[in-house]
Amino acid sequence: MKLFARILYVLPAAALLASCSQPMSVKNEQMISPKETAVPVNFVVYPDDRPSIPDGSLVWKQQNCAQCHGDDGGKDAAVKLNDPRAMARLKPVETFKFLAFGDEKTHHPAVLKDRSNREVWNLVFYTRSLAVKALTDKDLEAILPVFGANCAVCHGTKGDGDGPLARNLEPMPANFQTFRRFYDRDDDTLFDHIANGIKWEGMPNFLGKVDTKKNVKFDHAYIHKLVLYIRNFSVSNNPTIIATGTPTAGTSTTGTATAAPSASSTSTGTTTGSSTSSAESGKTGENPAATATGAGGGNSQDVKTPTGSTTGH
Ligand code: HEC
Ligand code: HEC
Repeated sequence: MKLFARILYVLPAAALLASCSQPMSVKNEQMISPKETAVPVNFVVYPDDRPSIPDGSLVWKQQNCAQCHGDDGGKDAAVKLNDPRAMARLKPVETFKFLAFGDEKTHHPAVLKDRSNREVWNLVFYTRSLAVKALTDKDLEAILPVFGANCAVCHGTKGDGDGPLARNLEPMPANFQTFRRFYDRDDDTLFDHIANGIKWEGMPNFLGKVDTKKNVKFDHAYIHKLVLYIRNFSVSNNPTIIATGTPTAGTSTTGTATAAPSASSTSTGTTTGSSTSSAESGKTGENPAATATGAGGGNSQDVKTPTGSTTGH
């Protein structure tokens, strides 16, 4: 009986295949096309404004990262997040990918399922600050004139690569506000480039030099400070959420805290330039989520926040 039924089923199909090969191939094309137009998985969307380290601390709390890493990042979770040596070798964009899309091997949660693109970038830089504290306003003020005297002729006072000498250099001096470039550099690389220069490319070496007028010696400690000074052009130490009126008391209830970041991310999305990128971030938000459910499943974080509200806009 069963065999007979199968033959009955197969016969007309075979006949169809034999008779009309033309329409079949048209059908196939239609089936393939959605795959080709899909947004690539794990696509990095860069922020439209400097990520905020203090804002990232809220995401850290809400995502309960301390449960494995401890409040200071030093709890034994295979990688100590407060170890400056280890963290100086991580590129921000690699940490973004690791956190945003998760990691199957270590069951690391995919944060972009629950959070906006901007919030994940805030989290990346908060996490980095556990190992290497960002410069204080006082530090920044002290370095400003040294930067002005030694770097700004090429890199510009705003770090945008537009100093008076810039036009004569090939390649042009780096624009420190370019997220794509500087999130693709670990601290060790920046240190090396400032200390030893970039041969044949116009970037001088500074290690061991002295600025007698400003009374500064470019030793290891000072070059390390310059690395953080450069970072400051693409990362912010100022909170934006607190400015929007959320109560800042240390023990925040999840309710108010969750509402605040999404409110701020809509407010940054109003300029023309950013509206496209926030649309993109919506796309990537969906994509990894789709793969993550298929692959790992059962991650602990996705209970509290309705995904739509944070990634949707
Ligand atoms: C279930 C436990 C767990 C939770 C929750 C967790 N982590 Fe991790 N994390 C780990 C482990 C284990 C590793 C080490 C992975 C490895 O061996 O590469 C790690 C590694 C990392 C790394 C280093 C990645 C690298 O490239 O070496 C970062 C950064 C990090 N976690 C940040 C976070 C942040 C931020 C959160 C909160 C969203 C978080 N983690 C939540 C367990 C956890
Ligand atoms: C004479 C011009 C000049 C001066 C002065 C100068 N730079 Fe540069 N710098 C450059 C050029 C040109 C590049 C780009 C090289 C390239 O693209 O390969 C560069 C690149 C860099 C980079 C980027 C390296 C990377 O990994 O992408 C850093 C960081 C940097 N400079 C820091 C500094 C600091 C800090 C000072 C002052 C202490 C300084 N520079 C002074 C010309 C200069």
